Amino acid sequence: LRIAVLASGRGSNFAALLAARDRGELIADFVLVASDKPHAGALQLAQTAGIPTLVLDPHDYAERRDYDFALFDRIAASKPDVLVLAGFMRIIDGDALKPWVGRMINIHPSLLPKYRGLHTHRRALKAGDSEHGASVHYVTAELDGGPVIAQTLLPVEAGDDENTLAARLLPLEHQLLSAVVALIAAGRLSLGADGIVFDGQPL
Ligand code: GRF
Repeated sequence: LRIAVLASGRGSNFAALLAARDRGELIADFVLVASDKPHAGALQLAQTAGIPTLVLDPHDYAERRDYDFALFDRIAASKPDVLVLAGFMRIIDGDALKPWVGRMINIHPSLLPKYRGLHTHRRALKAGDSEHGASVHYVTAELDGGPVIAQTLLPVEAGDDENTLAARLLPLEHQLLSAVVALIAAGRLSLGADGIVFDGQPL
């Protein structure tokens, strides 16, 4: 399986995918790491791992949509089978991502459909939730709204603040994302017309 990763930040989720590959748990080739941020840690990780990188600066494009189409055109040139958004912090134009629906997943730090968008840990705390977590979902034009593949749960503890909650959730995100990508790489997971199919059964 040829995987392209899109990341805007430090890249710990991408690092987890690399580690899963190195442990033989994920049979895949990383063909590209793309970012909208020239100093994203994920780019350094990729370079160290000998994986091609691409940086496209949104400031070079007058319209958001122009950027998104240019980005996906450049990504397509690497001929990935699957795109993984691993801390990619841009909302992607629906028309630009349309060709990738069913082949693009995202990890989001909330129990979707709760808390789409930003500041999820803060919002869960503010709501007094006793449980928090993360979701991996197929990406559609609806922000953080695509079919959810799998979730990981985390109890909220007394005294938690958004930093402690985010820090406790991050390793669980890494496990969740690696497990889902490994299932896709093993051909056990796909998005059909009627939703997600896992081992031949509707999920
Ligand atoms: C993760 O918490 C992810 O759920 C969210 O942004 C963070 C990315 O972290 N989308 P990293 O760049 O993978 O370390």
